[in-house]
Amino acid sequence: MPGPPDALAALLHESRRFPPPEAFAERAKAGPEVYAEAAADRISWWEEQARQLTWARPWDRALEWELPLAKWFVGGELNVSVNCVDRHVEAGLGDRVAFFWEGEPGDTRTITYAELHQEVCRAANALSELGVRAGETVAIYMPMIPETVFAMLACARLGAPHTVVFGGFSADALRGRVQDCDARTVVTADGGYRRGAPSALKPAVDLALADCPGVRKVLVVRRTGAEVGWVEGRDVWWHDIVDRQPASHTPEMFDAEHPLYIMYTSGTTAKPKGILHTSGGYLTHVATTHRLVFDLEAESDVYWTAADIGWVTGHSYIVYGPLANATTSVLYEGTPDTPSRDRWWQIVERYGVSILYTAPTTIRTFMKWGAGLLEGHDLSSLRLLGSVGEPINPEAWMWYRHHVGGDRCPVVDTWWQTETGGIMLTPLPGVTATKPGAAMVPFPGISAAVVGEDGTPVGAGGAGYLVVTEPWPGMLRGIWGDPERYRDTYWSRFPGCYFAGDGAKLDDDGDIWLLGRVDDVMNVSGHRISTTEIEHALVGHPGVAEAAVVGADDPTTGQAIVAFVTVRGGVAEDSESGARLVVELREHVAREIGPIAKPRQILLTPELPKTRSGKIMRRLLRDVADNRQLGDVTTLLDPSVVDSIKDRMTTAGDGD
Ligand code: WTA
Repeated sequence: MPGPPDALAALLHESRRFPPPEAFAERAKAGPEVYAEAAADRISWWEEQARQLTWARPWDRALEWELPLAKWFVGGELNVSVNCVDRHVEAGLGDRVAFFWEGEPGDTRTITYAELHQEVCRAANALSELGVRAGETVAIYMPMIPETVFAMLACARLGAPHTVVFGGFSADALRGRVQDCDARTVVTADGGYRRGAPSALKPAVDLALADCPGVRKVLVVRRTGAEVGWVEGRDVWWHDIVDRQPASHTPEMFDAEHPLYIMYTSGTTAKPKGILHTSGGYLTHVATTHRLVFDLEAESDVYWTAADIGWVTGHSYIVYGPLANATTSVLYEGTPDTPSRDRWWQIVERYGVSILYTAPTTIRTFMKWGAGLLEGHDLSSLRLLGSVGEPINPEAWMWYRHHVGGDRCPVVDTWWQTETGGIMLTPLPGVTATKPGAAMVPFPGISAAVVGEDGTPVGAGGAGYLVVTEPWPGMLRGIWGDPERYRDTYWSRFPGCYFAGDGAKLDDDGDIWLLGRVDDVMNVSGHRISTTEIEHALVGHPGVAEAAVVGADDPTTGQAIVAFVTVRGGVAEDSESGARLVVELREHVAREIGPIAKPRQILLTPELPKTRSGKIMRRLLRDVADNRQLGDVTTLLDPSVVDSIKDRMTTAGDGD
């Protein structure tokens, strides 16, 4: 495993501790006993949590585990949307607000649980009319509007697994996902608002579906009013079909292991993996973690996960976890700097947000913009802050605690993955003394370890790989259509354990610090992108002979994408055609994958450093990209190649 970069090494000397404020600890949902209770009998503890959901039929066995296949709450039956909506209305909470929604242009909508129920029923009736059946996948490609939540819950209600494709992904990415999971219906919008302007979605759908003959129907929400292309017989306006449906719907109950959704995420190959999540165990995991990690007081808290619904964080902690707990949430469509850079703090003030959950990259962006933007906003409603998506550096953690949390709010750094479904490592805010930059300890009922190359656990002070040692309720149930890859990727590196792909270190107290990915997956602004995926896109361009992509350290985005490219016929970078090609290649990648995958920098080079067996030495390119002393070059076929790349790197400007 590569040693931790300097910044991370420094972080391991971090010695500040922040015990929970006394008043907070006294009334926290989870006290210290929760760890012992869960440890005494993990499985019964999870059963106790599962009992807080509403089941149509109780389970016969809590867990069936035959590595790598797990089934939780076997024989149990439930409906996920009933658990997120109907039961709260039946319990008399119909008037409670489920979402305070705010569009980027400033339009707002307040949706109570009673209204959510009606909207979900109407959407479910409409999808049924369009032919959606249990077990048939629906693709959702939407902006951050309430209809996105309605559509997801309507799918869950019908037992039709959804795959939400992030609205920033390209037509190509959408096509690949629709084809892979064989979606028959697509729910989309004409567009959404981002950075002060309408941003179209429907044209990408039309482009993608030209190669998806299996798709019968496209349901389109009118959001921006932009003109859209229309395929008669296939396309249907949301307002034409959903609004005329009855506002009630009798739900069917599904097996606890019925597929709930497929979420595509980057792995180490060019093809994204369709991570499958099912119903009973997943909902138990996200509801429990949401309640205890965020110390939820559902009657009074206003909760805000500032992430996109298109990522797993949005699935687990905007939709399923919070709604299962009858939470009042904020949902915001746009970017933090529109129309001004204090938009978030206006929102916190306006709705009295008490719990804020976001990514380190956003916090670092706010740091760059300056704390002055928070002044003049009353943030006193905040009582808890959370972080997710990438390692958080101590400076960002301290800034978040001080400037956003007024030094009174506990900060919980939560480690988890698309694959884990819900939070796995985290402090509990009323129990754990936090350390700036550490995810600390496994959540109750979760068993994790840091192991060395040979799979044996490292002791306090040791570094290695993070593994999960026991099955957990929210775990992925496989990779859609690829059982081999599931076993190979997660269950073969360390026998008996789930291999997460993250490096980690135990400090002297035995608390866990994450060190970043150890595979070819980058984490750019909290988005997972595989180096291979981008290399694949680059070599798909007719001008490119070969490409190597690495993640370089970046003060704002965590990692940044740097591409080294050799060109067919050889074009000098400093020539006009070289400069043009660099611009074109960045656009090409944006088209193939999405704007988030655009390399920060593309370096044209006559050759890439290779071993004698022809393997590109990405390790050395990472050293170059980070401007570090070069590692071992003895296995290189031609050591001078990397020196010449290094020289170019220092003279080349940014790709922008
Ligand atoms: C990284 C996002 C350090 C990690 C929920 C993981 C983190 C990948 C943290 C999963 C954290 C997420 N500290 N690293 N608190 N949270 N990561 O699937 O590398 O988009 O493997 O899930 O993000 O990203 P994914």
